[in-house]
Amino acid sequence: MGYIRIMGGRPLHGELSIKGAKNAVLPILAASLLCDEKVVIRNVPNLLDVDTMTTLLERLGCEVDWDRERGVIEIEKGGRISMEAPYELVSKMRASFNVLAPLTLLNGRALVPLPGGCSIGYRPVDLHIKGLERLGFEMSMIHGIVEASIKEKPKGAHIYLDFPSVGATEHIMTAAVLAKGETIIENAAREPEVEDLANFLNRMGANIEGAGTSTIKIIGVRKLKGGVYFVIPDRIQAGTYMIMTAATRGDVLLKNVMLEHLTAPIAKLKDIGVHVHEVNDREVRITNDSVFSGTSINVLPYPGFPTDLQPQIMALLSIAKGVSVVKENVFKNRFMHVDELRRMGADIRLEGSTAIINGIEELSAAPVIATDLRAGAALLIAGLMTRGETIVKNIEHIFRGYNDIKENLKKIGADVEWHMIRTNIKGVRFSVKNNDLILGG
Ligand code: EPZ
Repeated sequence: MGYIRIMGGRPLHGELSIKGAKNAVLPILAASLLCDEKVVIRNVPNLLDVDTMTTLLERLGCEVDWDRERGVIEIEKGGRISMEAPYELVSKMRASFNVLAPLTLLNGRALVPLPGGCSIGYRPVDLHIKGLERLGFEMSMIHGIVEASIKEKPKGAHIYLDFPSVGATEHIMTAAVLAKGETIIENAAREPEVEDLANFLNRMGANIEGAGTSTIKIIGVRKLKGGVYFVIPDRIQAGTYMIMTAATRGDVLLKNVMLEHLTAPIAKLKDIGVHVHEVNDREVRITNDSVFSGTSINVLPYPGFPTDLQPQIMALLSIAKGVSVVKENVFKNRFMHVDELRRMGADIRLEGSTAIINGIEELSAAPVIATDLRAGAALLIAGLMTRGETIVKNIEHIFRGYNDIKENLKKIGADVEWHMIRTNIKGVRFSVKNNDLILGG
């Protein structure tokens, strides 16, 4: 485990280039198990979670070559693909649960551990299971292991999701591409990453229409070939750096973004008084010379304000004039960062899934603990915008979702010291030698 020491209170300046979206790459990697030929994925960010997924695919029997520098992953199914996903890899990264349907289709049966809960609350997979059952998969669970089996090809079905779950939409869509007949997913998740997965599958020969809307239609095909796919940029990384720049009253240009994916966060930043200069549809510059004013934020499935930016925007709102209200409608308990912000002096009251924030002049530097990936990002922002020395412990969570975070912070002038020790998270190793972070080291 480790920590970072942040000497905050300095405006950040410079420019950063945003890489591929973690939450697009992960389901695409899982779905690549269904492709009969080599798959090449480009614009892949160098992240711990991608490491975990590629390690899983190798353990399952795939040949995986990841050129981290060029951001290119090549995957080819070797000989036999295992039907069992190892606990230590699946239990710590929920996205790997989506190998269940592909492994079942390859072997007729598969066993995947139930993904563990995490600090953003209880995360069931009932919608995944119900959807796969509608396609003809037989599902059972014993001792925390989900077993799926299927005697013949899945049959197309009309599936309604009680909640527009991103993972369940992606899992069902992946399972349906080789089914007999037509599958309709109603109340599907509309996230750009769902659409990117559909575009990937169609590039490999699938027949999917409507991804990105609430109704997705999949006509089953006989097989999926291989090919090359370039992943969309990471809207959550882009949004995080936008909030970070605003919070430090800096001036940063972000390149290789897709502004159409950031409509809600941009609208809210403008409400707060942040200057958002949309240079073109791929570049955005953030500056700030005004006082922030509080606002209300309703966290919703896409295209609403994204839950993965909720902790970060709360850090900014803690110093916005007046009262802000943040309602979290996606996860039941995504407020673990609130106690840590309170340690820095934030005035936040929780009423169920609503946070009421009384903006104060400035937070005060203090030692805090990161409980998960996005809480870590929020505390990093809180430390950068606060004068004095803030220590963020368990900062390694941040490497799950922010590639080159060390280099990027340096590039925009953040005064941060990394104090890490060799650690093993989710079966993945990284370490710091002479203050250099080495993944897989
Ligand atoms: C994806 O998680 C993302 N992860 C999450 O990003 C993101 O926060 C989330 O979607 C919502 O946008 C990846 O894509 C790898 P959900 P996922 O299924 O698919 C409930 C990050 O920081 N639910 O849309 O797990 C669930 O409990 C991560 O990058 C069920 O009840 O999210 C939650 O309350 C964090 N039953 C809500 O739906 C189910 O079967 C949304 O979950 C599935 C979900």
